[in-house]
Amino acid sequence: MKKIFLGAPGSGKGTAASRIAPKRNIPHISTGDLFRENIKKETLIGAEAKKYIERGELVPDEIVIEILKKRIQQKDCQNGFILDGFPRTISQAEKLSKLIDIDIVININVPKEIIIQRLSSRITCKECGEIFNSIDYKPKEDGKCDKCKGEIIKRPDDEPKIIQNRLKIYEEQTAPLIEFYNNKGILQNILCDNINKPADETAQLIINSIEKFANRTQS
Ligand code: AP5
Ligand code: MG
Repeated sequence: MKKIFLGAPGSGKGTAASRIAPKRNIPHISTGDLFRENIKKETLIGAEAKKYIERGELVPDEIVIEILKKRIQQKDCQNGFILDGFPRTISQAEKLSKLIDIDIVININVPKEIIIQRLSSRITCKECGEIFNSIDYKPKEDGKCDKCKGEIIKRPDDEPKIIQNRLKIYEEQTAPLIEFYNNKGILQNILCDNINKPADETAQLIINSIEKFANRTQS
């Protein structure tokens, strides 16, 4: 199944996708992670994307589409994938629909207060991108990733002013995708309004919703 995880910055797209993709044996494709990898490797795409990411703005479509198109053409995407952070505008969604058919869109709906709390306490691995939280999901060893022992950092775009800009851009440019995919009949909403609910439970709610949707569309 080809899935999109939609949601505001900090809604938990990456956290949920990183738990669900291995269970389904499909890749988790985060355009944000692809850009961060390119920034780390100091590629041309990375240098261009960095200018936008550090201001909390969207990277121009032609760059995003190029990187995404290359990724979904790889062999491991044949049996499906989870797109996290793409599409982010109606124009990106229209371009995507010319490349492939999406089966389901999961809209992770989280109140703004929870989002701000989560983003201000998020910490990630500089090497593999594993996501942690300094309040309730700390690495076992201080400052080191549980998975690869890489250095734990705070994402540079998680500064309060940049968070505000990312949320504003989400409201203006990404939230209209909810109606866009609802009109296509493939949108499933997941409400996450309890800050104490563990991430594994949220991931399970999403899996249940995907299975229910798949049974409904196949019958
Ligand atoms: P990207 O990396 O995609 O950032 P984002 O969309 O702003 O989303 P985040 O990664 O911040 O949040 P998330 O929803 O993945 O939450 P997470 O799981 O980490 O993009 C970065 C930038 O790249 C963009 O600003 C833009 O410039 C550019 N870009 C990327 N794609 C683009 C595109 N298509 N077009 C143009 N530009 C693009 O969770 C957050 C925190 O909450 C973590 O600490 C986590 O531990 C915690 N948490 C998550 N879920 C739960 C849960 N269920 N319970 C408890 N805690 C949880
Ligand atoms: Mg993410």
